[in-house]
Order: sequence, then C-alpha cells, then structure tokens
Amino acid sequence: MTLEGKTVLVIGGSSGIGFGTAKAAQDAGAEVTIASRTAEKVSSAARKLGAEGVTLDTGDAAGLEALFAARSFDHVFCSAASTKVAAVRELPLEDAYGSVDSKFWGAYRVARAANIREGGSLTLVSGFLSVRPKAGAAIQGAINAGLEGLTRGLALEFAPVRVNCISPGLVMTEMYDGLEGDGRKAMFDGAAARLPVGRVGTPEDVAVQALALMTNPYMTGTTIFVDGGGAIA
Ligand SMILES: NC(=O)c1ccc[n+]([C@@H]2O[C@H](COP(=O)([O-])OP(=O)(O)OC[C@H]3O[C@@H](n4cnc5c(N)ncnc54)[C@H](OP(=O)(O)O)[C@@H]3O)[C@@H](O)[C@H]2O)c1
Repeated sequence: MTLEGKTVLVIGGSSGIGFGTAKAAQDAGAEVTIASRTAEKVSSAARKLGAEGVTLDTGDAAGLEALFAARSFDHVFCSAASTKVAAVRELPLEDAYGSVDSKFWGAYRVARAANIREGGSLTLVSGFLSVRPKAGAAIQGAINAGLEGLTRGLALEFAPVRVNCISPGLVMTEMYDGLEGDGRKAMFDGAAARLPVGRVGTPEDVAVQALALMTNPYMTGTTIFVDGGGAIA
C-alpha cells in the first residue's frame, strides 16, 4: 500500500484516528498535511510527524473553499468531529444540533469543497452505532448512518474520485480524555469483554483500513467496519 508521491490531507489529524492515519500515510511515503481547529494541537502533532499543519474548522465553509481553491490533494481523510451524546430527552436541543453540525455537516462541507486529483479518494468517518443502536446514543447513530448514506451518494456524484466511509467501533483515543480514570478504564474493559476480538481498537487498527481505501482503486461507495465485531456482538 504505497502512497509514494501522493499528497494526503487528514482533517482531524491532530488527534486520535486522524493522527494514526496521518502517521500511517506518512510511513507509506505520502506527503501529509494535517488540519484541525486548535493551532497548538496542530503544530504539536505536525512537529511529531514532521508533516505540514493547517489550522482549519470544518464549520467554516469559506475557509474550506479557500484552502481547496489554492490546492488539491490526492487523498482527503476527514475524521474531524466533536459531538455531545446523551439520551434524546436529556440532550439539550442545541447540543443535538451542534453535534449534527460538527460531524455530519462538517463532513458535508469538506466533501462539497474538496479538490481531489484524478485517481484520488475521499474518506469519511462514521461509527458502528449506525447499525448497532444504543440507548442514550440515538443521535450519534443517526449522524453516523447519515454519513454512510452520504458516502454512497457522493461516490456516484464525485466519480471517478472514489468516496468511502470507515465505521470504527470503540477506539482508544484522546476523545475519551474527558472521562475520569476509573470510569474510562471500566468502559474500555467492559467493551473489550463484550467484543469477539477481546480488546478495544487503536488508531493504528483504523489507519490500516484508511490506507486500503486510499490505495485500492476498486473500492468506492462502501462503508468498512473496523469495530472488533462490535456491530454483531
Ligand atoms: N474513538 C472512538 O471510539 C470512535 C468510535 C466511533 C466513531 N468515532 C469517530 O471517529 C472520529 C474521530 O474520533 P477520534 O476518536 O479520533 O477523536 P479525537 O481524538 O477527539 O480527534 C478528533 C479530531 O478532530 C478535530 N476536530 C474536531 N472538531 C473539528 C472541527 N470542527 N474542525 C476541524 N477539526 C476538528 C480535533 O482537533 P481540534 O480540537 O484541534 O479541532 C481532533 O484532531 C469522530 O467522528 C468520532 O465520532 C470514534
């Protein structure tokens, strides 16, 4: 899976799944650019990788259009999102709208603006709650299912550029840094015990498939589950 001579933009690349994908792409020979909202996070991650860093908010449609008017990429990977999840009757409506805006509309804005070279690809990131609903996380399942549907339509509209989606299960990333130590460990341990593979995922597990979607010219319009069996367990 060589990306020698290719340019890869990872939006959400300063952390977690995006950072893991950026690193894997760089190891595969790509010239990598990472992007996210927080300048310090971008510069620290870019320094660690030796990659280019761009400060960018997927909420800013004009900013995205300006970036892609100035340059094109072979592959664009978007894992950028920040969502609040709670039971429908407990989650304030503004937080529900904010979550959809960040993850669904954020990816939509990226897709709409993206300037991708011939032979290239766009990869979105959803999550296994799209098909494995969980009480208390209906909003997240709906956003993820929306992204998977969007992927199929975009693959037709953007052809010959390929568009795919990765649907991760529980992956140990900075996304869970806000949870208290014991609660975090209990959640990871509980998930590991339920999963057929007996452990939770790592950003590297997801990155392997992200690179497969970038490099396999016969894949488009598909959603790949990298969830340790979470969708069936
Ligand atoms: N980890 C899991 O268990 C899991 C499971 C299923 C699905 N997912 C999905 O996978 C994706 C990535 O998750 P992760 O675990 O890698 O999360 P993470 O470690 O929190 O990383 C999220 C990245 O997105 C950036 N970001 C957030 N909002 C942004 C915006 N509006 N514009 C630009 N960048 C933005 C963040 O940086 P800044 O703060 O600097 O913007 C960060 O680089 C999310 O969509 C998540 O829902 C994760």
